[in-house]
Amino acid sequence: SAAGDLSGRRVLISAGGTREALDPVRFLGNRSSGKQGVALAEAAASRGARVTLVAANLEVDPPAGVEVIRVSSARELNAAMQAAAGDTDVLIMAAAVADYRPVTVAEGKIKKEHTGDRLTLELVKNPDILAALAAARRPGQIVIGFAAETEADTDALLALGRAKVSRKGCDFLVINRVGWNEGFASDDNTVIVLDAHGAIVNEASGAKLSVANRILDVVV
Ligand code: C5P
Repeated sequence: SAAGDLSGRRVLISAGGTREALDPVRFLGNRSSGKQGVALAEAAASRGARVTLVAANLEVDPPAGVEVIRVSSARELNAAMQAAAGDTDVLIMAAAVADYRPVTVAEGKIKKEHTGDRLTLELVKNPDILAALAAARRPGQIVIGFAAETEADTDALLALGRAKVSRKGCDFLVINRVGWNEGFASDDNTVIVLDAHGAIVNEASGAKLSVANRILDVVV
């Protein structure tokens, strides 16, 4: 990675995991730590980019020298990405976004004394932020998505990735395997980068900062 090869480029990255409120004290969430997205922000900044990080409930500190916009829910993340997208050259959706949110958010704490032995939650689909960003991108803008999958088999992982890249309409898709002890919380990552046609354009394994630089090599 040549220092300065993203000089002056504006890079917008979402990182972390969204939280969907159930009531004032509870949420539906996921195990994303935000480490890979934060590493991308750090790597892009060190290569000269002007970086905006849309941060959803990070477990790590954002890097110095990047603009940070804090959000929590998928809809807040969507609004922040939409507001910043027009000005950027590269958009990276590294955040783990909740596919669904509760239909209603209780005004007060949900009480088991009222809900009994079983509680059914009704959920509604969140907007697909990546697909919308890809559909609205202007010429020259590069849109990158992530696919965190639990498939153990690499061929199955690739098949899911190829279907996803065409469904989302993004320029590149970074596939990584996640599980109870893999991917989200870890300091290391293993990824395969696909282009818009589903062809493998890069593969990387190791510390998340090094993986971030291999992803940015593709962008450059
Ligand atoms: O559809 P799926 O969640 O598997 O796709 C993952 C990719 O889509 C990630 O880049 C994630 O940030 C993005 N995503 C999104 N909006 C959603 C769900 C996922 O932008 N509602």
